[in-house]
Amino acid sequence: MKFTVAIDGPAAAGKGTISKAIAEHFGFAHLDTGLLYRAVGAKVLAGDDPVQAAKTLTPEDLHGDLRTSEVAQAASRVAVLADVRAALVLFQRDFAARDEGAVLDGRDIGTVICPEAEVKLFVTASAEVRAERRYLELSEKGQGDTREQVLADVIARDKRDSERAEAPLKPANDAMIIDTSEMSIDEAVAKAVAEIEQHR
Ligand code: CDP
Repeated sequence: MKFTVAIDGPAAAGKGTISKAIAEHFGFAHLDTGLLYRAVGAKVLAGDDPVQAAKTLTPEDLHGDLRTSEVAQAASRVAVLADVRAALVLFQRDFAARDEGAVLDGRDIGTVICPEAEVKLFVTASAEVRAERRYLELSEKGQGDTREQVLADVIARDKRDSERAEAPLKPANDAMIIDTSEMSIDEAVAKAVAEIEQHR
């Protein structure tokens, strides 16, 4: 039976980790929608037109090295374009309608892509905490960004994502807010699992 969990929130809030844990716990499919925007951003950095890139995106495009700050910034620049967002809607909605259940994480899942989702979570944390987590993640992968650069990336993207006219970053009215500033990821996952269990 269709069952959709929408997880939104600002940059590096832990949406990915929480989504993966939930998907594993409940046997749901998981779509990291940020990867779609990152793939479009990467193509634009390589010289492509953003709308064309969004319209012709293939699964292979999602396998490149997309988890860099440069690609993240490019993603948030293409994400303001209505035509880019429109080109990605159907794929996300089809994914959400899977029989085995689905968890999608992004910025506008609960507000625009799946306003009928059975469960909506908005995962957040202070910019400093988010930047520190992302800094550790990037340094583990050997990327040379400094703490200051990562914090600047997080703040710039949050601002662009929140202030854009199309599908801005904001919690849906009926979303449960999970602030992970002073919470371990395990605690955040436990909270999310409990919320989903209430709606199953
Ligand atoms: O992993 P992180 O939270 O840093 O970013 P992401 O989820 O990979 O998203 C990268 C960028 O894509 C964001 O800063 C947004 O500008 C954009 N995005 C969006 O506009 N809508 C979504 N549903 C997902 C991502």
